[in-house]
Amino acid sequence: MDKAHDAVPQHIAIIMDGNGRWATGRGLPRTAGHRRGVEAVRSTVRAAADLGVKYLTFFGFSSENWSRPLGEVKELMNILRFYLRSETAELHRNNVKLKIIGNREDLDPDIVELIENAEDLTKENDKITVLIALNYGGRDEIIRAVQKVVEQSLNADGDDIDPLSVEAGFIENLMTSGVPDPDLLIRTSGEQRVSNFLLWQCAYTEFVFTDILWPDFNASALQTCIEEYNGRDRRFGAIDSAEV
Ligand code: IPE
Ligand code: IPE
Ligand code: MG
Repeated sequence: MDKAHDAVPQHIAIIMDGNGRWATGRGLPRTAGHRRGVEAVRSTVRAAADLGVKYLTFFGFSSENWSRPLGEVKELMNILRFYLRSETAELHRNNVKLKIIGNREDLDPDIVELIENAEDLTKENDKITVLIALNYGGRDEIIRAVQKVVEQSLNADGDDIDPLSVEAGFIENLMTSGVPDPDLLIRTSGEQRVSNFLLWQCAYTEFVFTDILWPDFNASALQTCIEEYNGRDRRFGAIDSAEV
C-alpha cells in the first residue's frame, strides 16, 4: 500500500547527532562541532525547501541534555541565541515559518523572547515550516498532553468519554498540533535509537540511519536519505493491494 516511490516526504524529522565526535576526531573541543552543526542546519533547510518538503523538524536539545557538562550546555544555549539572532531575518526572507517545540520554562528569558519574536515574525510564512525541538522530551510531551486532556474532560459534563474524542483532544494538546506526523526520520552519526524524540508522532515513520556526522550533513546526504525512503514500502499495518 502507498508505496513511497519518488514522493518527496511531506515531513522530515532529524536527530542531529555526532557533533562531539566530529570535533574530537579533529582534536577540537566538542563545542566546535556544535558550531559547525549550525552550517548543516542552514544547508539542510535550504535543500529541503528547494525539494518541496513542507515540514522539517530538528532535534536541537533534549530534556536529557541538561546532564552534560555546564560549559557545553552554556555553549549550546549561546549557539541557539546566535542562530535565532542571525538567522530569523533570513528565514523570513525565504518564506520559512519557524516554530519551537519543547518546554520553555527552563530556558533563559532572553532566549524565550528571541523564540517568541522569531515565531511571531514568521507565522504567516508558508514555503516550509521548520520546527526546532528545544528542551524537548517525547515522554514529557505525552504526559503534558494527557494532563491537559484530563483537565478538559473533568470540566466537561459527565457523559461517557468517547475514545475518539480523547485521541483527538490528546493530539491537539501535543506540541506538534496541526503538523502531520513525520514520514521520514533521519538520525546521523550511526546511532540507531530514538532518544525520546517524537515518540507518539513516529508510530509509522520510516527511519533512516546514516553514519555521516551531523556537521558533515548536506543537500546530497539529504537526497541519499530520501532515496532510501523512496525504496520503502509503507504499509501502515495493511498488506499490498497486489497480494489481496
Ligand atoms: C548532537 O551531537 C548535538 C546535541 C545533542 C546537542 P552530540 O553532542 O550528541 O555529539 P556526539 O554524539 O557526542 O558525537
Ligand atoms: C539526541 O542526541 C538529542 C539531540 C540530537 C538533540 P543525544 O546524543 O543526546 O542522544 P543519546 O544520548 O546518544 O541517546
Ligand atoms: Mg550524541
